[in-house]
Order: sequence, then C-alpha cells, then structure tokens
Amino acid sequence: MDVIRQVGALRLAVGQARVKGQRVALVPTMGALHQGHLSLLDCAAQHGELRVMSIYVNPTQFGPSEDFTKYPRPFDDDCELARGRGCDIVFAPADGDMYPDGFCTTVSVNRLSETLCGASRPGHFAGVATVVLKLLNLVQPDTAVFGRKDAQQVLVLRRMVQDLNVPVRLIAAPTVREQDGLALSSRNVYLTAEERRQAPLLYRGLQALGRAFEHGQLDTQRLRASARDIIAGATLFSLEYLEVVDTVMLRPLDRVDRTALVALAARCSQSRTRLIDNITLGGEL
Ligand code: PAF
Repeated sequence: MDVIRQVGALRLAVGQARVKGQRVALVPTMGALHQGHLSLLDCAAQHGELRVMSIYVNPTQFGPSEDFTKYPRPFDDDCELARGRGCDIVFAPADGDMYPDGFCTTVSVNRLSETLCGASRPGHFAGVATVVLKLLNLVQPDTAVFGRKDAQQVLVLRRMVQDLNVPVRLIAAPTVREQDGLALSSRNVYLTAEERRQAPLLYRGLQALGRAFEHGQLDTQRLRASARDIIAGATLFSLEYLEVVDTVMLRPLDRVDRTALVALAARCSQSRTRLIDNITLGGEL
C-alpha cells in the first residue's frame, strides 16, 4: 500500500492503474478508522481493482464550536488498518493543497443541506460537498463509497453528483454496529461510560419504530412516538431531531407512502457528544 500526500504523485499512480485497465474505487474518510470504514473498503473492492482511501480531516465542515481540533488523528494506526483491509493507496493531502491561499469556491446543495443535521450545523454540508467534489476531481474514481450511517450526507452528495454531472457512481454501504446496536462512529470514543451504556437505546428506538411500520403503522406521528418512548430511557441524551422524511428532498412525511428515511440526532449531556443514526422504511437509500 502506498501513502501518497502529493497531488502529482496521486495522479500518476491512478493514471498508471487506468493504463492497466483497472477500475478505481474511492473511500473518502477523515481517518480515526473503525470497522465501519473498513467495511467501506470491502465494498470498494467489489467495484474497483484500485482501492484508494482518502484521509483528510476537512476543516470547512466543522462549525466554530465543533470538535475540529480535538478530532482524533491516529494516522499511523489508520494506515495499518487500511493496509490490512486491502487498501492500495492512502491519499492524505495537505491543507495547503486542499485549500490554497485565496480559495473562495463553495459547493452548496441547497434545501437538502438546510434540514435535519443541517439545521444545527450551518455550512456543514457545503463543507462536505466542496471537499468531496475536490476529492472526486483529484482521484477521478469510477465509484465512491460512503456509509449509510451519514444518510443525509449520502443524499446531499447524490444530489450534487446528479446536478453537476459528476461522472462517478456513488454507493451507500450498510451501517456497521456494535453487538448492542450502537452505530460505529469515530465520535463514540468521546462517550462517558454511562453515556455508552445508554447509547444503544437510540437504535432500539429506531428498531421499535421499524417494527411498528412492519405491523402496518404508516402515520409518522405515531411511528415517531414509538421510538421516543424507548429513547426517553436514555436520560443522558436529548433528542435534537427524530424525523421521518422522503429520501429525495428530505421533506417530512405525514404518512409513509414511499421509501422513507427515519433519522435522529441526539446530544449527550455529560460529554456533549452528538450522535446520529437512521433506518429506512419501505426500501433502501
Ligand atoms: O463522512 C466523512 O467522514 C466526511 O464527511 C467525508 C465524506 C470524508 C468528507 O470530509
């Protein structure tokens, strides 16, 4: 596995793979890799002979009071994990290459970026869309793989790719969970022991909602109530949102009459960690 920091060297390596007829699959990450990220590499292996993982903690997607400086950066461990899971290239660009002096372009995927997580994280999805478009332009992969855990991110990026005619296929890979159901996240390390004990109730709430839907409940107020009842047991968490929305424009639904995304965000009172999770009803993302 090669660790490449320079844009020129990246282009050369990808160009050589293409000459050999290899398809290129990109897994964009911010590092602090866990089994969820590694499962994205497995998915990439199904779509490309050259697997590139980018590791870049993108400053523009963090708000001023968010965890950019304390975001974990175990770069050497990340490289070892990526190597062990069959990654061919780790691309770790420098800030100066991603955001050179005078940088003043932003990709805004309007409407989709303003709801759910976007409501409390203004500018977050513009930061994500901008850096992902840059990574897609740098690597020019056939396929890029993202985790379904960040469902809104997937839908925002899908919209961007469609709206801007970006020649790439986006794949949304399933969420990987701990045995007790907690979705893997690089931010789980921030949880206090008691928060960690309560955290699986978020997914259990979503599962209860999913079961109510399977039993024929289509009314989204009632569905949300079935999740809230369980999540209320997580006394150290306060729900920021729990919404049932369509999977194209993320508009709230009164009834589940098409594929729906059920998404939540919750904030812990002790560590201030913010966790997100989701399920879909009546189809996949
Ligand atoms: O999901 C993430 O880790 C980031 O938002 C991404 C897609 C790598 C962009 O910085």
